[in-house]
Amino acid sequence: MKRIGVLTGGGDCPGLNAVLRALTLTLHQAKGPELVGLCDAYFGLLDEPPRLMNLTPELVREILDDGGTILGTSNSGDPFSWNGQDRSADVMQRFRDLGIDGLVSIGGDGSTSIAARLMRAGLPVIAVPKTIDNDVAGTDVTFGFESALRCATDALDRLRTTGESHRRVMVLETMGRDAGWIALTAGIAGGADIIVIPEVPYDLECIAEHIAEMRGRGRSYALVVVAEGARPIEGNPLYQDPENDRLGGVGWALARQIEERTGVESRATRLGHLQRGGSPSPVDRVLATSFGAAAARAILRGEWNQMVALKAGRITTVPIEEIAGKIRTVPEHHPLVLTAQSLGICMGA
Ligand code: F6P
Repeated sequence: MKRIGVLTGGGDCPGLNAVLRALTLTLHQAKGPELVGLCDAYFGLLDEPPRLMNLTPELVREILDDGGTILGTSNSGDPFSWNGQDRSADVMQRFRDLGIDGLVSIGGDGSTSIAARLMRAGLPVIAVPKTIDNDVAGTDVTFGFESALRCATDALDRLRTTGESHRRVMVLETMGRDAGWIALTAGIAGGADIIVIPEVPYDLECIAEHIAEMRGRGRSYALVVVAEGARPIEGNPLYQDPENDRLGGVGWALARQIEERTGVESRATRLGHLQRGGSPSPVDRVLATSFGAAAARAILRGEWNQMVALKAGRITTVPIEEIAGKIRTVPEHHPLVLTAQSLGICMGA
């Protein structure tokens, strides 16, 4: 193969540039195929003329610690449903016209599902799992997660001091549409009293009782962390913009309901995109670099149609066909859930 395409798709996360850098440098070092970036994922490919970026060692050498992605990304622009139209044949033709023989798709479950469909249409693909939500199936962890975890833990540390001063309930809403990895892990790292995740529908009575019990034994404040996708036992997740499928607001709702039930003054903070921005943590730089280099090595070996992954501490690959369309939520008896329970942290139900 002479020319490979690469795109970053879906919501961004810290570490995307580190993957692009490692992929480019490893292919160059091995005198492998030329690497061309598709700007804004499939938008750049289908634009007239196409918007492409030649990824050279000179271009990527200094981007290791830069947040975001030099290629741009988008969480719309599915070639199979492009304003209601299937443009996958145009995408395949465009790849042929540009002499691009294979694609590296750096994305979450949505981008990998699209890449899997192009793969079935005959395009050789390598997937690289990213997302702060840490919910990609087939890998123990995605890059971006640890940086988001640091951000959420730092927020909890800050909320603790102000919450304690004012004897308030402080609610932190994190990202996490389907999976509560950020809320659960930050909740443990930040010493939260109550952790609410999408996998465990919450019971307001139970949360209010827990707070009353804490007050009863002299704890004047409480820290609550809730993932944006959480929902009450008999109810649905809250949307700030249902038409555009944008979640948000469960933190404010919980704070209000807690205050109504317990009489304890409550405040909520929505962390939002602060979790996605900024420089990757050292752990994410290493993971993203390892994934980028592993993707390049798979290309050099001709091992296509794989996703690079971290499993039991080893960088490896898994067939895309095995993981496409699946997500990794928090299992009921995950060790972190058991840890939270054994510490007396209320899981909302
Ligand atoms: O990256 C995944 C995610 O962080 C979700 O948790 C969240 O719902 C979504 O991105 C928000 O993305 P955007 O605001 O870019 O549409």
